[in-house]
Amino acid sequence: MNDTFAREVLDGLSATPKKLPSKYFYDKKGDHLFQQIMKLDEYYLTSCEHEILSSSKEALLKLSTAGGKPFNLVEFGAGDGYKTKILLRYFLEQKADFEYAPIDISENVLELLENNLKEELPDLQLKPVADDYFSALHSLRNGGRRNVILFLGSNIGNFTEELAFNFLGKVYDAMKRDDLLLIGFDLKKDPAIIRAAYNDSKGVTREFNLNLLRRINTELKAGIDVDKFIHYPVYNPMTGTAKSYLVSTEDQEFEINGTKISLEAWEAIHTEVSQKFSLNDITRMAIQTGFTELENYFDKRRYFVDAVWKK
Ligand code: AVI
Repeated sequence: MNDTFAREVLDGLSATPKKLPSKYFYDKKGDHLFQQIMKLDEYYLTSCEHEILSSSKEALLKLSTAGGKPFNLVEFGAGDGYKTKILLRYFLEQKADFEYAPIDISENVLELLENNLKEELPDLQLKPVADDYFSALHSLRNGGRRNVILFLGSNIGNFTEELAFNFLGKVYDAMKRDDLLLIGFDLKKDPAIIRAAYNDSKGVTREFNLNLLRRINTELKAGIDVDKFIHYPVYNPMTGTAKSYLVSTEDQEFEINGTKISLEAWEAIHTEVSQKFSLNDITRMAIQTGFTELENYFDKRRYFVDAVWKK
């Protein structure tokens, strides 16, 4: 892990223009900062999706139990389960016959979630899978039950377009005929609202972005002067792409594993893509990756959509 991390960081910082993979935001501190971000008013995505799941839980249970057979509720990148618990609680109340299978590469994340769920929802049938999404889906195929796959939070927006299509194509291939995909997309909206979501007034997102440099310092002993960087998020309404950068405020140099990295004053490191979508963009993605759109569930302001696709 540390070798891959070192290599990818070095590759990104040696490239022109410079970049760092956003997946590395999520160390322990980064996980905590992201939890804080999700509680911010300006970061509307979480409350919108919470509202959608609350208002569509009945319809979602109907879709999941169509045919009257038991099913697996599978979640890619489970996190703390804050939003998923709306469905879990409701499905249990309705005595639905289902098993919840959160999938995450991090055993630590799964253990925390498992402990929490065992306490809060003791009747839940729980089968955490510590694996990558596709191997986990393949292992879940064998049971023959319908898999209802959750990919929430507009996590798909953190992929470049090419990677998103590639990822969805692989999800499609790993699904059985009867399976469903429930996928969250953050929609295009007033650019000022989107900008504020990535530049919150409390500076939590700033810390989240800068934490990537702190992680590089801790894990790779890099000695980066983090104070010489500013957090700079932008949103392009033409493309719907929100991007975050770390901009160096002066000429600076540091070393990673013996390799010297130099930045000129005002040179930027690209750290994250958070794509926003129109309904047409979403339809195009579904069609091009082979899926059929079944339903779209919106919040009242139509800031966000949870789409249900079938194979
Ligand atoms: C996890 N992901 C969908 C978040 C997003 O909105 O792109 C990560 C995030 N980055 C800054 N704030 C939140």
